Amino acid sequence: MRKLSVFGATGTIGDNTLDLVSRHPDKFDVQVLTAHENVEKLAALARAHMPSLVVVSNPECQPALASALADLPIKVEAGAKALVDAASAPVDLMVMGIVGFAALGPSLAAVRYADAVALANKECLVVSGALLMETAARHETRLLPVDSEHNGVFQLLQGRDADTPSKIVLTASGGPFREMALDDMAQVTPEMAVAHPNWTMGAKISVDSATMMNKGLELIEARVLFDIDPALLDVVVHPQSIVHAFVHFRDGSVLAHMATPDMRVPLAYCLGFPERMDHGANVLDLGVIGALNFEPIDRTRFPCLVHAERAMHAGGIYPTVLNASNEVAVAGFLSGQLKFTDIADMVARALDAEGELIAPFDPATLGELEACDKKTRHFCLELIKDLA
Ligand SMILES: NC(=O)c1ccc[n+]([C@@H]2O[C@H](COP(=O)([O-])OP(=O)(O)OC[C@H]3O[C@@H](n4cnc5c(N)ncnc54)[C@H](OP(=O)(O)O)[C@@H]3O)[C@@H](O)[C@H]2O)c1
Repeated sequence: MRKLSVFGATGTIGDNTLDLVSRHPDKFDVQVLTAHENVEKLAALARAHMPSLVVVSNPECQPALASALADLPIKVEAGAKALVDAASAPVDLMVMGIVGFAALGPSLAAVRYADAVALANKECLVVSGALLMETAARHETRLLPVDSEHNGVFQLLQGRDADTPSKIVLTASGGPFREMALDDMAQVTPEMAVAHPNWTMGAKISVDSATMMNKGLELIEARVLFDIDPALLDVVVHPQSIVHAFVHFRDGSVLAHMATPDMRVPLAYCLGFPERMDHGANVLDLGVIGALNFEPIDRTRFPCLVHAERAMHAGGIYPTVLNASNEVAVAGFLSGQLKFTDIADMVARALDAEGELIAPFDPATLGELEACDKKTRHFCLELIKDLA
C-alpha cells in the first residue's frame, strides 16, 4: 500500500484521483485530504477514504467539518499553516490539485518531504519553477507532471536521456471560442466560458482554456519541467484533444503522445509510476474518431497566449505578475465584474506597469514571490474598482 495525500480533493483533479484510488483499493492508503471550503464534499470523501487528517484552508469552515466528522477518528485542521504542515507529512505520493497560487506553499513543502509529487497545479510552476525544481532535486523528490500535455512529453522522454529534443509542441483544442467572431468575444458569459468542448475541469482552468492563457501557462510550465529553451517550444491547434504533445528530435523523428481526453489517463500514469495502472477512461478508438486535425494557432484571437509568451521570454518577475493578474482577472470575470475581453487587457496593464510592478528583479524565495503576487493582486483589484 502506498501512502497517498490528495490536496484539492474536492476539485476535478481530486475527483479523478480518488476515482482511481477507488478502483485500486489494494494499492493506496489515503493519509490526507484537503479542500478550501467545500465542507460537505470533503466530509463525504473522508468517510469514503478514511484519511488520518483532513484540512480546510478556510479556517471558518473548521467547526462545520469537525462536527460532520465527529464520530470518526479523523483529525480536522484548518488554515494556511495547517495546509503546509499537512504537506510536510512523509507520504509516498502527494497529488497537488489545488488551483492557483495558493498551491505554492504546500507544493514547496511536499517536494521536501514526499517521495514523489504528482503536480497538477500549473500556477506554482509558472511563478516559482526554478525554486520548486531546485528544491525537489535537492531532496531527491520525483516530480510527476499531471497536465496531459506535460505528462505526454514526460512519457515520450522516458529512457531517452541521450536524445535532446529539438522541439516540443503542445496541442491546444482551441477551446469553445476557436471560431467565434472576434467582435462577439466581449459578450462571452462565464457559463459559455466554462463549457469546454473536450474536458471537464474546474472553473478557473476552463476560463484559462477559453482565453488560451492556459496554453501560455503550459508553455512556461514546459520550459521549467523539461529545461528547454523557450524558442524550441510551440503550440498547434488540435480540436479533438487526442494527441497531447509532440517531441521532435534532430534526426527528423517526431514522437506523439495520444490518449482519450480524460484526466484519469495521466493521473493513472502518475499514481502507478513506474508501472501502468488500469484507468477506467474510454479506450481510444481511432477508427471511430476517423480523423485528427491540426492547424496553426491564430494569435490575434488569443492575446492572453501572446502575453504569456512575452512573460516566458522575459523571465524574472514577469511570470509572477502574469499569473497574479490573470488570477484576479479570471475571478473578476467569473463574478461578473469584468468582461471576457477585459481579462487580456488587465494582464497587459499589469505586464506594462514598469516601475510599479515590473522591475529588473527575479523573485527567488517564497517570501519574495508572495510579496510580488500580493502587490500585483492589489494593483489589479484597484483597476477593477476604477472600472466599477
Ligand atoms: N481539471 C483538469 O482537468 C486539470 C488539468 C490539468 C491541470 N489542472 C490544474 O490543476 C489545478 C486544479 O484544477 P481543478 O480543475 O481540479 O480545479 P477545481 O475543480 O476548481 O478544484 C480546486 C481545488 O482546490 C481547492 N482550493 C481552491 N482554492 C483554494 C485555496 N485558496 N487554498 C486551498 N485550496 C483551494 C478547492 O477546494 P474547494 O472545493 O473547497 O473550493 C478544490 O479542492 C489547477 O491548477 C489546474 O490548472 C487541472
